[in-house]
Amino acid sequence: MSRVALVTGGSRGIGASISKALKADGFTVAATYAGNDEAAAAFTEETGIKTYKWNVADYDSSKAGIEQVEADLGPIDTVIANAGITRDAPFHKMTPEQWHQVIDTNLTGVFNTVHPIWPGMRERKFGRIVVISSINGQKGQFAQVNYAATKAGDLGIVKSLAQEGARAGITANAICPGYIATEMVMAVPEKVRDSIIAQIPAGRLGEPEEIARCVSFLVSEDAGFINGSTISANGAQFFV
Ligand code: CAA
Repeated sequence: MSRVALVTGGSRGIGASISKALKADGFTVAATYAGNDEAAAAFTEETGIKTYKWNVADYDSSKAGIEQVEADLGPIDTVIANAGITRDAPFHKMTPEQWHQVIDTNLTGVFNTVHPIWPGMRERKFGRIVVISSINGQKGQFAQVNYAATKAGDLGIVKSLAQEGARAGITANAICPGYIATEMVMAVPEKVRDSIIAQIPAGRLGEPEEIARCVSFLVSEDAGFINGSTISANGAQFFV
């Protein structure tokens, strides 16, 4: 029986590449999305990967959605907490609403995704958790006090989960992508984007597939001793 992977925000951007890579690796994949029905339908049409709609910021919706996925596909042993949003603004202009939207989706969303799946992983003595953090959680970013806080928080989550899950065969790791060619980065004003690319020694944006390959490795059965770690994939833009 194939392993079941849940990828939040799995129908677009980096998440879509991850969903496709895991399918190619032999997983049965469930990809969640929050609102874009059209993109999700096109994604399923193109890939055959089933999509599920819920808001990761809402615990009850996440729990109910996960129960549905498990009823349809079987127990989830692999979770990729990828769903994330930006609401960029310099701090003096950032509104409490922008703060809370990003915290609720990017940080509480990880709790809401992993928490309902965790007891089953503990019982079955196996699990793979990958949280998609960001270079900006490592270095901070002008106009991203909210986003950087969540992405730094992701690193605390995986380091703590790793310690709690290790004896139960569960690993939790983070990937910190640098600037990747997705809609999120393309939404940055062109002039700003050009100045960002100028700061990347590789001289280019990353490709979503370059992140998906890191995920494939971390969720493999062979990667059981890699736990609580962070893989930076940023074209040499920043070192920790
Ligand atoms: N460092 C220092 N100063 C900066 C700066 C930076 N990185 N970026 C902008 N500024 C300065 C500008 O030069 C300008 O200065 P002046 O007022 O002296 O001209 C000022 O900040 C901008 O002020 P504005 O009032 O014009 O700013 P705004 O309210 O219009 O906001 C912005 C503009 C939201 C900051 C916009 O520039 C922006 O989106 N920047 C990109 C932020 C960014 O990198 N986000 C990452 C998105 S991708 C992602 O998040 C994925 C991932 O994980 C990597």
